[in-house]
Amino acid sequence: MSAGKSFYVTTPIFYVNDVPHIGHAYTEVAADVLARWHRQAGDRTWMLTGTDEHGEKILRTATANGATPQEWVDRLVESAWKPLLDTIDISNDDFIRTTDARHEDNVKKFLQNLYDAGFIYTGEYEGSYCVGCEEYKQDSDLVDGTGEFAGEKVCAIHSKPVENLHEKNYFFRMSDFTQPLLDMYEANPNFVQPESARNEVVQFVKQGLNDLSISRSSFDWGIKLPWDESHVVYVWFDALLNYITAAGYGYDEEKLASLWPATHIVGKDILRFHAVIWPAMLMAAGVEVPHQVYGHGWLLVGGEKMSKSKLTGIAPNDITDTFGSDAFRYYFMSAISFGQDGSFSWEDLSARYQAELANGFGNLASRTLAMVSRYFDGVVPAAGELTPSDKAIVDVVAASVAEADAAIERLAIHEAVTSIWAIVDALNGYITEQEPWALAKDPAQAERLATVLNTATEGLRALAVLLSPFMPQATHKLWDALGVEGSLGALTAQPIREAGSWNQIPVGTSVGTLEALFPRIESAAE
Ligand code: MSP
Repeated sequence: MSAGKSFYVTTPIFYVNDVPHIGHAYTEVAADVLARWHRQAGDRTWMLTGTDEHGEKILRTATANGATPQEWVDRLVESAWKPLLDTIDISNDDFIRTTDARHEDNVKKFLQNLYDAGFIYTGEYEGSYCVGCEEYKQDSDLVDGTGEFAGEKVCAIHSKPVENLHEKNYFFRMSDFTQPLLDMYEANPNFVQPESARNEVVQFVKQGLNDLSISRSSFDWGIKLPWDESHVVYVWFDALLNYITAAGYGYDEEKLASLWPATHIVGKDILRFHAVIWPAMLMAAGVEVPHQVYGHGWLLVGGEKMSKSKLTGIAPNDITDTFGSDAFRYYFMSAISFGQDGSFSWEDLSARYQAELANGFGNLASRTLAMVSRYFDGVVPAAGELTPSDKAIVDVVAASVAEADAAIERLAIHEAVTSIWAIVDALNGYITEQEPWALAKDPAQAERLATVLNTATEGLRALAVLLSPFMPQATHKLWDALGVEGSLGALTAQPIREAGSWNQIPVGTSVGTLEALFPRIESAAE
């Protein structure tokens, strides 16, 4: 991909009925890695995240905690959800709350447009509703309950009974969009990814879409319909619109035109909302559909989707307090194939931290810089003529940059890590093989020693750039220690797609000392 394109990436907006767990953090990190990659590549990048604050689930939680819904959401956003972004080093450009005036006002405009265009009508709704999902359920979505709910039908995701709703509601004519959606999926095969998610969505729409109930009148914690204030808009209809209200819909058309359409990163449990309902809403309003919807897998604990309601939730800072945010980010992006489910275990995290980060990357960085200090007084030496072994390193780096960029373009984040890690492995092998410590003992090999350390330092420079989206803190330290100009993450450093060009560290550059990038963790899995 050439530099300069626009890349607008979003996370789902999170329900603030509870505090974040590592499943939420996983979605955030994935979107953030993509955003940082594109930013470091010079693409016009915008990352949006935020919170989903209306609806019955939040109203009930607030009431159960003796707070008004507004007090509750303010408390949770400030004490838990915004701090999460620091805990895992998220570089979002904007944070939208569905209680923001910019959101509420423009959701009303969107609704009014659809109403005026004849896409909304009144009807009666009777059916099952899962408050945990905030979703109307079909019988086929339900499973037999166990334990206290034995004998009842329960939501397959929350394992809790659904509630019977019978209300007068407003409906969105979603059925009108069955064929337009199928045509769109066909014309744009990458719209829903990965492939398995796309197939599931296409099969679902092929069965024909029903109209969607988009209002509730039995409670009032939500955005009132502009033409009938006795109803609030259905929380998902409200929430999905965040992606355009944050981008200027209804009040800054120029901003919207410069950002939209977006790439949406979502968990597979909320794929249909994003890949079916959302584009249908946009088509009805005459707004372009998203660029892409990517449904990633779940973090599993004990074989089940990790969740607070099932008491399998792990807080992100349980991990970052011990391992740091870089290790958190690296681990989840490398150990799990993006798009598939993955099991979390402390043992696996500890083992990879030690083998890949401390021994693999961290050690490579510290011993290379230590040798430049010891043998060349800390000044990066000029390389002599390159031998095939040195050229092999240059080639590995060039191939890795191209492969990793292509993988990011496909949103195959774990494949990008694998491609970059080929450099770590190649450099470690190169140093073992070239034995700079032995060359240093023979004055006749001074030029060879210079070439080897120049090559290794250039390789480290490429690694700092390529790994910066994954591990912003460690790569920052490494970049500073390398003494190269510019600041990583701000594009004053090397653009990521050019990380393979050689001789980027001016000869004579003084390197600094480097503290251990990934210190030994005494208590972990020992
Ligand atoms: N509020 C809605 C999204 C509205 S977007 C217009 C919502 N919120 S959520 O807080 O329940 O979930 C947010 C995201 O976290 C979803 O993408 C969901 O898939 C993800 N995860 C929640 N638990 C997860 C795991 N155990 N593993 C991976 N991701 C998980 O849905």
